[in-house]
Amino acid sequence: MSAKLNVNIDHVATIREARKTIEPSIITAAVICEQAGAHGITVHLRQDRRHIQDRDIEILREVVTTYLNVEMAATEEMLAIALKTKPDAVSLVPESPNEITTEGGLNVAGNFENIKNVVEKLKAAGIFVSIFIDPDAEQIEAAHNAGAQQIELCTAEYAELTLSARAAHGEGAQKASAEIERIKKASAQAKSLGLIVAAGHGLTYRNIGALAAIEEITEFNIGHNIISRAVFVGLSRAVEEMLTAIHQKG
Ligand code: PXP
Repeated sequence: MSAKLNVNIDHVATIREARKTIEPSIITAAVICEQAGAHGITVHLRQDRRHIQDRDIEILREVVTTYLNVEMAATEEMLAIALKTKPDAVSLVPESPNEITTEGGLNVAGNFENIKNVVEKLKAAGIFVSIFIDPDAEQIEAAHNAGAQQIELCTAEYAELTLSARAAHGEGAQKASAEIERIKKASAQAKSLGLIVAAGHGLTYRNIGALAAIEEITEFNIGHNIISRAVFVGLSRAVEEMLTAIHQKG
């Protein structure tokens, strides 16, 4: 069976927040993704609220009919929001103030008590808990011991290695396939501990194939590349519609 796809729609909110206006609507985006067959919607409520806002989560909770996965830092503030809005799943992610995007997995082993405590409270509220970690044996063990039901393996390193066309050859290709092996091994370890395995970060139409072939991975969270593609798939129609509006005058 193929893995499920949750579409991360943060970047639709990024465009909206660039103007602090009402469009593009992330609610419309969520509905279109669901109608296209996405299995779920993922959003990241960042502490600096640079894209998704608290109110978005509240409305998405009412509108999303598939699966709402909210990524958040393991803080008291975020925990309170999750307990209030009750998404289907919470993915705990690391966050540092000046990062452009999430920079690798959460250090569960190094923050064990805090993370375990947050996991317990989320689970007690009936929320499914995933933890975003690097494909590392110690972190997988720690996520399991903290009570997570799922891990999401961070594919940032693989994504970096497959970014340029040059990476498809020679040493680049070898490094990318070594990283795939690391992810495969981590997936098998996690599954043997009873964890559900997801993966995400930097995945593209070009690099997803090798990961999709790992049968332990049952869910992907993909955002930037899909929204980037959507801009080009829709751009000529958008220009045509504006020309029509101009030609119609008054
Ligand atoms: N999974 C996690 C935990 C993330 O933090 C992100 C980025 O917000 C994604 C998946 C999606 O990454 P991308 O936008 O690069 O597809």
